Amino acid sequence: MKLLVERIKQDGQALSEHVLKVDAFLNHQIDPELMQEIGKEFAARFADEGITKIVTIESSGIAPAVMAGLYLHVPVVFARKRKSLTLSEGLLTASVHSFTKNETNEISISKKYVAQDDRVLIIDDFLANGQAALGLIDIVEQSGANLAGIGIVIEKSFQDGAAKLKELGIRVESLAQIEALEGGKVLFKNDKVEELV
Ligand code: G4P
Repeated sequence: MKLLVERIKQDGQALSEHVLKVDAFLNHQIDPELMQEIGKEFAARFADEGITKIVTIESSGIAPAVMAGLYLHVPVVFARKRKSLTLSEGLLTASVHSFTKNETNEISISKKYVAQDDRVLIIDDFLANGQAALGLIDIVEQSGANLAGIGIVIEKSFQDGAAKLKELGIRVESLAQIEALEGGKVLFKNDKVEELV
């Protein structure tokens, strides 16, 4: 997605060879107009999939997921990482280990909001090692709902999350694919292909 790639080039910072900082528009300050375009793009890519529900994980998945829900006209459910005061019964849970942060979270969604007759689109901001996505897939499977695919805002293709999901036969749509973070620079997958042509 050109608009997103341009924005990453403009405002993204490669903090190391593994971490891209996009606090200016996605992870802290949020650009609503960019999120709207991201939502439109996800909705277009999954338009023919009969999606009835979007599932994401707090916190940075919520903005792009809500915008996709707006354009697909379906509700959005976000998995919680901490126990909620009002959400304690009838939970579907999964364990998510973050290699980046070296911590494990128990994530949960109420059974009430994802059911057997749902066709689910999972959306998240980053795809790195795929642990969050695998946790969400686990929860969708427990609910008995059907998974249509996964929409990712920024895929770090040099980590193995995307490959793991594709091996499982899951459709992954990433709006920006990063091949490498080198010497403070962000190298995009498609840019590299263009250079090779
Ligand atoms: P994984 O789920 O793909 O295995 O990812 P990982 O454990 O590596 O990532 C854990 C958290 O770090 C997630 O956010 C993820 O979105 C974020 N993350 C991973 N790589 C990057 C990166 O290069 N840049 C940025 N900015 N974030 C990255 P989280 O802890 O759930 O945070 P939030 O959603 O509450 O903001």
